[in-house]
Amino acid sequence: MAKNILVLCFLAFTFSLAAAFEPSSLQDFCVADPTMFMAVRVNGFACMDFKLVDANHFSFSGLHVAGNTSNPLGSRVTPVFVTQVPGLNTLGISLARIDYAPWGLIPPHLHPRATEILTVIEGSVLVGFVTSNPDNRLITKVLQKGDVFVFPIGLIHFQRNVGYGNAVSISGLSSQNPGVITVANAVFGSNPPIADDILAKAFQVDKSVITQLQA
Ligand SMILES: *[C@@H]1O[C@H](CO)[C@@H](O)[C@H](O)[C@H]1NC(C)=O
Repeated sequence: MAKNILVLCFLAFTFSLAAAFEPSSLQDFCVADPTMFMAVRVNGFACMDFKLVDANHFSFSGLHVAGNTSNPLGSRVTPVFVTQVPGLNTLGISLARIDYAPWGLIPPHLHPRATEILTVIEGSVLVGFVTSNPDNRLITKVLQKGDVFVFPIGLIHFQRNVGYGNAVSISGLSSQNPGVITVANAVFGSNPPIADDILAKAFQVDKSVITQLQA
C-alpha cells in the first residue's frame, strides 16, 4: 500500500513537470518546413530536411527600421516569431520591436504562451499588467530609455507612449509562437459575436452599450 502511494506520488510529480515545461529538445534544431504548415499537425511545425537548412532559416533583417504607426492606435509591432524565422521552431523564444507615435497605445492584451521581457530603447513608455482574480491588482510603471519590465505569462498588459516624441521598445518572449489575445477584440469582436444579452449581463450594462462597443 505504502509502495503504491509512493508510485502515485512519483507519477504525479513527473506529470506536473511534464505539464509545466516544454520537454528538452532531442535534436540541435527543427527548422519549420513551410510546405508542411498545413499538412502535418504537431505541437509546433514539422522539421524540414536538415540538409536543406541554411543561415537564412535562423536570421531576420530590418529590426532597425521603424514600424508604420499611422493607424488609429498609433503603434506597430514588428514580430520576429517562428513565422518570420523558421529556425525558432521548438526553441521557446522570440523577439519583437514596437514603435509608438506620441500617445501611441498597445491596448490591453495577453500572450497565452509567453512571458514577455521588454526594454525601452527610445522615449518614455507607461506599462502595466493586472493580476488574476480575485485581486485584479494593477501594477504600472513609467519606463525610460534603458529600463526593463516583465509581463508574466497569461496576464493582461498594455503599453502607452507618454513622452513627447516617438518611442521604441524591444521585447523578448518565451515562446516561438507567443500568441496574442487583444481583450476588446476577443470579447466584443468575436466571430460570430458573443450574444449581447450575455455581454450585457457580464458587464452589467444596457444592451445598447454592448452594441456600441461591438461597433
Ligand atoms: C503608413 O501607413 C499608412 C496607412 O496605412 C499609409 O497610408 C502610408 O503610406 C504608410 N507609410 C509608409 C511610409 O509606408
